Amino acid sequence: MGNGTGRLPGFVDFMWKGRFRQAASDLLKTYSESVSYDWRLYRHDIRGSIAHARALKAAGILTAGEFRRIESGLRGIEKDITSGRFVFDPELEDVHMNIESELTRRIGAAGAKLHTARSRNDQVALDLRLYLRDEVADLCALVRTMQKSLTDLAARHERAVMPGYTHLQRAQPVFIAHHLLAYVEMLDRDHGRLRDCAARMNECPLGSGAIAGSTIVLNREAVARELEFPRVTQNSMDAVADRDFACELLSALAIVGMHLSRLSEDVILWASAEFGFLELSDRHTTGSSLMPQKKNPDIAELTRGKTGRLYGNLVTLLTVMKGLPLTYNRDMQEDKEAIFDSVDTARAALEIFAEMMAAARFREDRTAGATEDPNLLATDLADALVLGGVPFRQAHEIVGKLVALAAQNNVPLNELEESDFLSASPVLKAALVRSVFQVNKGLAARGGTGAPSPKNVAKRLRYWKGRLA
Ligand code: ARG
Repeated sequence: MGNGTGRLPGFVDFMWKGRFRQAASDLLKTYSESVSYDWRLYRHDIRGSIAHARALKAAGILTAGEFRRIESGLRGIEKDITSGRFVFDPELEDVHMNIESELTRRIGAAGAKLHTARSRNDQVALDLRLYLRDEVADLCALVRTMQKSLTDLAARHERAVMPGYTHLQRAQPVFIAHHLLAYVEMLDRDHGRLRDCAARMNECPLGSGAIAGSTIVLNREAVARELEFPRVTQNSMDAVADRDFACELLSALAIVGMHLSRLSEDVILWASAEFGFLELSDRHTTGSSLMPQKKNPDIAELTRGKTGRLYGNLVTLLTVMKGLPLTYNRDMQEDKEAIFDSVDTARAALEIFAEMMAAARFREDRTAGATEDPNLLATDLADALVLGGVPFRQAHEIVGKLVALAAQNNVPLNELEESDFLSASPVLKAALVRSVFQVNKGLAARGGTGAPSPKNVAKRLRYWKGRLA
């Protein structure tokens, strides 16, 4: 097949031409290309290449002039990609080879020296780390924005009560703010997980080569410094083989999704006519093409649905990695779409959810109305019996019977006869019973750390306002 020039006819010049006598099948090319999605790594790829070229210059592999041509050539390519002028060629497989080959086309011989002492294996391990480091910083900021949106909403309804639920049955009174701040705490741990995984991925793999470094030894520490890595990886095989840092990130994002999905479910319930607790703005709801009255909480539903992708992407990546012998295997190219999709999905969900909650408002009349259900204070009545000397298990049974009696008589618990209370227990004098059935009193008594007394909630609100300012 050789045509005397070392080129295969009808085929672009390709990187490993030395070894091959036949061009790749068209099906293989389509099957194996990744540039259609990994092109988004171009900025980080170019940044890494410039740092690598500087190290080649320091090692005497590149002259100062060659380095300058490489650097300005790469910057020119970056500009063209950013402005949309650059045409990626799927025949060049991935972003790394597209950029390198275009560089050589533009600047000639010097470009062909860039890949000295480097492999796409350490290159892609670098690009992913650089890319994800940036993305995680953005995601952390979005988690903060989401926390702030919830904190502001909590502050707007600071004194409003609502029923708290277990098993989706009314359980005990809480403040709306307490319920919302529960999510603020969850998101704070999400933020911590993102920061943790960013710190662990923050080491420079460049210099690991394909698997075993290189006989041409570059100053890895200098490269790391230029790329703002606090340290370099310590085992070349580990550095090119593992994607645990991406698994950690996808896991952290799956958990973000879980939290947003639970909030979604709360929002969907609250926005229903049955609850009527929450009003979403027109801007964040959709109508029905058929039913004129509908105002649907699609953002929450979509977020709940998209959480499936966040879980799926984590499982995809874990599954891709689990059977791979060290070190790099081409399977690992399948990491990208899962990673990109999780980053995009989590970003979009956080962004829109923060905006939606900032524009939402609770109907305090409805939440207060629902909290008037005296059964919410049945536990407080049992506590009052305990304070009157009755063992808790007995108190529980006494109140349980009163609740059943009220249901049977079809009256609210607090409207049973005085004699009903007294015959249940002499402790339950009318004045005591009256004082128990005051929601605000019950809340005020819940002063233990983390419990929803008005004082505690106000304090935690102040804390979050300060932290998120
Ligand atoms: N596009 C490849 C990937 O994302 C880059 C590494 C290719 N390495 C190789 N030995 N073929 O995994």
